[in-house]
Order: sequence, then C-alpha cells, then structure tokens
Amino acid sequence: MRIFIVTALFVSAFFTYILLFPPSFLHSEHVYRDDEQRGLDEQIVINFSHVVAENTPKGLAAQKFAKVVNERSDGKVKVEVFSNSVLYSDTEEVDALRRNDVQMIAPSFSKLADLNEDWLLFDLPFMFKDEGEVEAALNGQIGKSLQASLKKENLKGLAFWNNGFKQMTSSQKKLAVPDDFKGQRFRIMPSEVIKKQFDLLDAKPTIAPFNRVYESLEKQEFDGQENTISNIYSKRLYMLQRYMTISNHGYLGYAVMMDESYWNSLPPDVQLLLSNAMEETTAWMWEHSKGMNDQQLEKIKSESSIQVHYLTEQERDKWKQRFKPLYTEFQKRLTKDIVEETYKK
Ligand code: SIN
Repeated sequence: MRIFIVTALFVSAFFTYILLFPPSFLHSEHVYRDDEQRGLDEQIVINFSHVVAENTPKGLAAQKFAKVVNERSDGKVKVEVFSNSVLYSDTEEVDALRRNDVQMIAPSFSKLADLNEDWLLFDLPFMFKDEGEVEAALNGQIGKSLQASLKKENLKGLAFWNNGFKQMTSSQKKLAVPDDFKGQRFRIMPSEVIKKQFDLLDAKPTIAPFNRVYESLEKQEFDGQENTISNIYSKRLYMLQRYMTISNHGYLGYAVMMDESYWNSLPPDVQLLLSNAMEETTAWMWEHSKGMNDQQLEKIKSESSIQVHYLTEQERDKWKQRFKPLYTEFQKRLTKDIVEETYKK
C-alpha cells in the first residue's frame, strides 16, 4: 500500500512539473515562430537568371521589375536577379527554367529558333528600319504568333524586351563592304540566319555562348563579333577590337518568360501583380533602351581608340545584295503570315 501511495505521489509530482515547466520538445511549433518567420515561409521567391551585365537594357529592366514586385507585394513575392550568367549560360537557361531551377529568364530571340524558326525573322539583316517598326511588329500579329509558339512549348511569355540593333566589330579590318569580311573568324549566337549571313560574307562564323565572348576575343580565337552597343560596352569588348561599323543590320530582342506550369501554380493575385509590374517595366525599358545604347556609344568613342565607321547607304545596298539568297530562303521557310505582315510595313 505504501509503495502504491509513494508511486502515485511521484507520478502526480512529475505531471505537475511537466505542466508548469514544459520541455522544449513538447512546445508546439508556433510557439517558437514569430510573424516574420512565418511570413518568410510563405514568401514566393522568383529567381530571374540572365546572361548580360547589369548596366544594359535587360540588366536594368530585370532590376526594375524585381524592385516593383518586391515593393508592391509587401514582401510576399521576392524577385532575385542573377546577371552575367552567374547561374546559367545562355545554352543552359531554358532547361534550367523547365527544371524549375530558376523561375524566369529572358533569352535573345536568336536563341529560341530551336523551339520555332519564326524567331529567326529578327536576325534577317535590315528587315526592320528602326526600333519603332520592331515594336509595332511585336505588339501586333507577329508578337501574338510568337507568344503562341511559346505556349505550345509550355512556356509563358511575359513580354518582349528591346536591346536595339547589332553592330559589327573586328580586330583586323574596317568592315565597310562585303569583301572586308572575307576569311575573318566571327563569334555568333546559335542562329542559322546569322551563320548564313557570315557564310555569304565569306567569313568563318562559330557559335559561342555570350559569357565566353570576351575571353575568346582576348585569346584571339575570333577576329570579330556582332552585338548591340550596350553588350559591346558593358563587356568591354571594344577594348579588344580595333574597328566598329555602325551597321544596325540585325535586331536583338528578348522574350521574357516563365515555365507555364510554374506560372499556373501561382495564385491569381500574384499573377496579376507580376503582369502589371511587367507591363510597367516593359514600357520603361522600351523608352530607355535606345538612349542607353546611344550614350554608351559615346563612352566607347571617348574611352578607346576604336575606329568607328557609319555604314553608308551605298555600302548597305551592297550588303543587302550579298544577302539576297538569305531573304529568298527564309521568306519560304518562315510562317507565311509572319513574312507577309513584315513586308506589309
Ligand atoms: C544577350 O544580349 O542576352 C546576349 C547576346 C549574345 O549572346 O550575344
């Protein structure tokens, strides 16, 4: 009997102690977590990967988009921007998006031709007179058709961003007439049109990712390359080249996108917030990108001894003459509506 009473007293003392001083493993989770911690758990993080420098139209637009989203969502959505191929190079980024390793990318049109040939329209030299014409095409039927082609690939197109027209550079020779290109080795983006363009100029084109251009030019693996002023300036390519021709021959634009399944997994209010922030950012970037390229051209001229040549009308006609087989081939290969719409302008 005495043993029973002692045991009962011990058990009741034990439970009284536990009630008064519960050990940490019995605490329910929420006792430890403050609001801030719970908020972080629910936060949607969107990693936005791209390959160019921050002081470029794409780099600045990505940062602006992140800022607008982060502020407007009151911390509920956080866009983190990774520039300069620190996460993925341009050859890896679409796969990374599909694997959900990143949630947003903005590849150049030339790099999407594997998905649909119609993106090659913008690589055809001298197809568009100015950025206004490109903008009208992208806001019209051509843009709709390209967005639809992304959807077929389970990609959600969010916007088209602008980086303007490309210029030619070389370490060997001033590039004025088609024969000046003969035998020179050029780095190119992965585009059949760009490859054929250089083939027609009797040059030697080789595909290389953007994050290798500086190093390859430095090692003299290439004599030249084509790019927009902002890419030539921000990656200091002009320091490795002696000649630049302002040719404005091919267009460089970007398709800003997410994986469609990831997009569909986002709550409707977040989708709306992202769409609005993207609309605002896109308007801002189209307004500022041309000015940025113009300013950086002046900086290139003042910071280096590169010789800048402005392609004359007569020289442009000679280039166009040389590119005739390219126009003939791709007018047949690209979607008929897209070609007709382009020639209508
Ligand atoms: C880019 O602007 O995204 C890169 C262009 C290039 O590969 O030259």
